[in-house]
Amino acid sequence: MTALSGLSALLCFIVYVSTESVPIPEDVRVKSLDMGLVLEWDPPQNTTNKLFNYTAEIKNWRDFYEPICVRSSSLSCDFINNITTFGAYQLRVRTELHGETSDWVETENFKVDEIIEISAPRVELTSRKGQTEVDNTDPPLKKRDLRDVYTHVSYLILYWKKGEAKKEELIRDQTRVMLPNLEPLVNYCVEVAVLYVPNKTSQPSNLTCVTNSSSHEAEPGLIAVVLLVSFLVVLFAVVLIFLAVWYSYKVCRIIFPDPKLPENLKQFLSQQSQSPILSAMQESTQLKEHFNELRIFQMEPDSSQDNQQIEELFRIQTDKDECIEADIKHSSEENSEMASTTSEEKHLLAELTLL
Ligand SMILES: *[C@@H]1O[C@H](CO)[C@@H](O)[C@H](O)[C@H]1NC(C)=O
Ligand SMILES: *[C@@H]1O[C@H](CO)[C@@H](O)[C@H](O)[C@H]1NC(C)=O
Ligand SMILES: *[C@@H]1O[C@H](CO)[C@@H](O)[C@H](O)[C@H]1NC(C)=O
Ligand SMILES: *[C@@H]1O[C@H](CO)[C@@H](O)[C@H](O)[C@H]1NC(C)=O
Ligand SMILES: *[C@@H]1O[C@H](CO)[C@@H](O)[C@H](O)[C@H]1NC(C)=O
Ligand SMILES: *[C@@H]1O[C@H](CO)[C@@H](O)[C@H](O)[C@H]1NC(C)=O
Repeated sequence: MTALSGLSALLCFIVYVSTESVPIPEDVRVKSLDMGLVLEWDPPQNTTNKLFNYTAEIKNWRDFYEPICVRSSSLSCDFINNITTFGAYQLRVRTELHGETSDWVETENFKVDEIIEISAPRVELTSRKGQTEVDNTDPPLKKRDLRDVYTHVSYLILYWKKGEAKKEELIRDQTRVMLPNLEPLVNYCVEVAVLYVPNKTSQPSNLTCVTNSSSHEAEPGLIAVVLLVSFLVVLFAVVLIFLAVWYSYKVCRIIFPDPKLPENLKQFLSQQSQSPILSAMQESTQLKEHFNELRIFQMEPDSSQDNQQIEELFRIQTDKDECIEADIKHSSEENSEMASTTSEEKHLLAELTLL
């Protein structure tokens, strides 16, 4: 096989040598994408197994060709470093094979800004609070900004409901464009191209699709703020309630102190006299209340000389609304009524003894 292909190569070589020519490159074409300048070509026909060299040259205002890519095996040549944006140029390329050269293939004279192509803009699509916005970014050019080269640049925006053929068209100068008349919660697709001379358009952007958000959609930032504020309000309320409970407890303790009385105070109270009428009045209001009874008996030899038996009642209400009654009785007959009487009965008894 290798011998055969080697033979055919040799035959070809012989043929070419016999005609004293190298085949020319095929399909030579000029490309100027984003203000570059590239010459491209294909290898000569029926010679796919061969490796040719190529030389490409440029002719500018000086009106003679200057080589840029010399004896290169590449199938393109980049002239970006040897052109200006508004220059007029002519290019040519030839095939070379072991020192032999083909004829030149020459392009027509052209102006770079006339053959230029612009790549697609970058498109971002956002939908927020019922507004769908297209944000376009110009494609970067090789040498200058797009808007330096072309005084009037606008965007051709196509948008449509995903899956439907009918497309709406919009031409706008601004880079940020609000899409009008969208139905809520429908998936829309957008394709944008740059318009840079009255009827030249850039390559179309990639399709971008988005669903129009509901206009009632709250901003995430707002939600966070609302959450934070409500949290602080709840925290403040909890602290306030706690303080209120704490201070009312404190105040209660001041107004209604602990019912435990010091011994000397008890002594003092036990010697105070009290009118039986007041005592009776107090009793009348004390019905149906729970009492803890405290009795203090004092042994005094001249008790009979006191014009009254002294009975001291005082009620102390705790913060739990339970009342404790200290029933301090000054009595000489201490043993008698203790065992089997209720507090009410005892009060009645006290009254009786007084009478
Ligand atoms: C290339 O080969 C095809 C057949 O494969 C032939 O018809 C054609 O003439 C050839 N072209 C050249 C340039 O030799
Ligand atoms: C082309 O540009 C390169 C890089 O700037 C430079 O070295 C070369 O001399 C230029 N050639 C011509 C013919 O202008
Ligand atoms: C292509 O050029 C290189 C040097 O640039 C040379 O070594 C090589 O032999 C050439 N190939 C052909 C097929 O002419
Ligand atoms: C289009 O999409 C392709 C792959 O998804 C990506 O490589 C390319 O950069 C995109 N083009 C633009 C203009 O965004
Ligand atoms: C998106 O949908 C909302 C209803 O949810 C609507 O009010 C709004 O106009 C739509 N957006 C656009 C750009 O039409
Ligand atoms: C571009 O538009 C001009 C008029 O504005 C027209 O004469 C010309 O034919 C158009 N060219 C193309 C390629 O559509």
